[in-house]
Amino acid sequence: MNVAFVAPYLPPTTLRFVRAAMAQRGVQLGLVTHEPLERVPADVREALAGHWQVGNALDWRQLEIGARGLAAQMGELDRLLGILEHMQVSLARVREALGIPGLDPESALNFRDKARMKTILREAGLPCARHGLVADLPAAREFAAATGFPLVVKPPAGAGAEATYRVDDEAALGEALGFLRPTADSPVLLEEFILGEEHSFDSVFVKGKPVWHSLTRYLPTPLEVLSNAWIQWCVLLPREVDDPAYDDIRDAAFRAVTTLGLETGLTHMEWFRRPDGSLAISEVAARPPGAQITTLISAAHDLDFYDCWSRLMIEEAFDAPYRRYAAGTAFLRGQGRGRVAAVRGLEEAQRAVGDLVVEVKLPQRGQSAASGYEGEGYVIVRHPETSRVEEALRTFVSTVRVELAE
Ligand SMILES: Nc1ncnc2c1ncn2[C@@H]1O[C@H](COP(=O)(O)OP(=O)(O)O)[C@@H](O)[C@H]1O
Ligand SMILES: [Mg+2]
Repeated sequence: MNVAFVAPYLPPTTLRFVRAAMAQRGVQLGLVTHEPLERVPADVREALAGHWQVGNALDWRQLEIGARGLAAQMGELDRLLGILEHMQVSLARVREALGIPGLDPESALNFRDKARMKTILREAGLPCARHGLVADLPAAREFAAATGFPLVVKPPAGAGAEATYRVDDEAALGEALGFLRPTADSPVLLEEFILGEEHSFDSVFVKGKPVWHSLTRYLPTPLEVLSNAWIQWCVLLPREVDDPAYDDIRDAAFRAVTTLGLETGLTHMEWFRRPDGSLAISEVAARPPGAQITTLISAAHDLDFYDCWSRLMIEEAFDAPYRRYAAGTAFLRGQGRGRVAAVRGLEEAQRAVGDLVVEVKLPQRGQSAASGYEGEGYVIVRHPETSRVEEALRTFVSTVRVELAE
């Protein structure tokens, strides 16, 4: 099999996917990337069957040239893969242009464009927030009058909660629109604000059939983390995935993925449980989850889920693993501004719950402050009991302090 992997840059998480794809039996891997060959880590570089450097991997025409370039180096391509949210539609277009099997452009757009996604889901009778695309302030006011505050204002195809705001009144709405400057060609998305607990639902489909799922709880929601500088985010993956408490989301999530048009792949959905028990689907992505969730899934099953994803995407095969543990990530997010000056409380946390730790990325002194909700580092823990994992996460975020200084 000739597999092309598109990765603009090669940070550690991306490299886990690249190495896993490369290690599949009978696979020759080519890389389309912004990086010159000499910047690709040696073990990957030496095993590559092709390399094509592009200036902008988000531009599908450049990607097409890259994919054709790889095909000239290594032979006709059988798969075209990439994990980044922003690239999914471009990848689909190039697949179509070159006749490579995989997610098609229309379906990819269903997953990428949040307004289009919500329209399709609601038409299928699936619950989600009321939404509207607006090109100017009068249209936004009209939506607000019909829907009521609070609302969320965001780009229709963002990622990582960038440029996403909760607005509670007319004044805040005006401010957000002044900042985002929508136009008819580039409208902003308004949504009814959903109050409640936020979760993910991560699922595997093979040839149109759901074969596996997992979920996580976000503690608290990414938007709350971003609006409160002192909060350190946690993601909890409970062991009890078959709990009847999740029957409704399991059913809705599988129907949502089918409705949006995915045949084979791993998807990452986000959803809310309202205080009254009802649910709302927030968004679905046709790619592996970020926020270390792929590593959490690996830890919970004692296997390499990067490898499972690669096999799924390349061979259309997946063996549902047995879940041995609950797992969780405590993200270590600096307080203050500037660069990491100190990390305090690690030893104390380690003494209390160190035996649950399976992976650590410590913020490094001098590292510049991260802008997102994931912070500068993380600790991953696991234990057969979900409550023990929850306690350990609480211990880490209440004991460890990352100090930033200018
Ligand atoms: N309608 C909504 N109601 C409440 N919170 C929301 C809503 N839409 C988004 N959010 C919050 O903003 C975050 C980012 O929005 P999301 O739609 O997931 O975009 P992204 O692609 O940036 O992840 C979510 O994780 C959630 O915390
Ligand atoms: Mg999201």
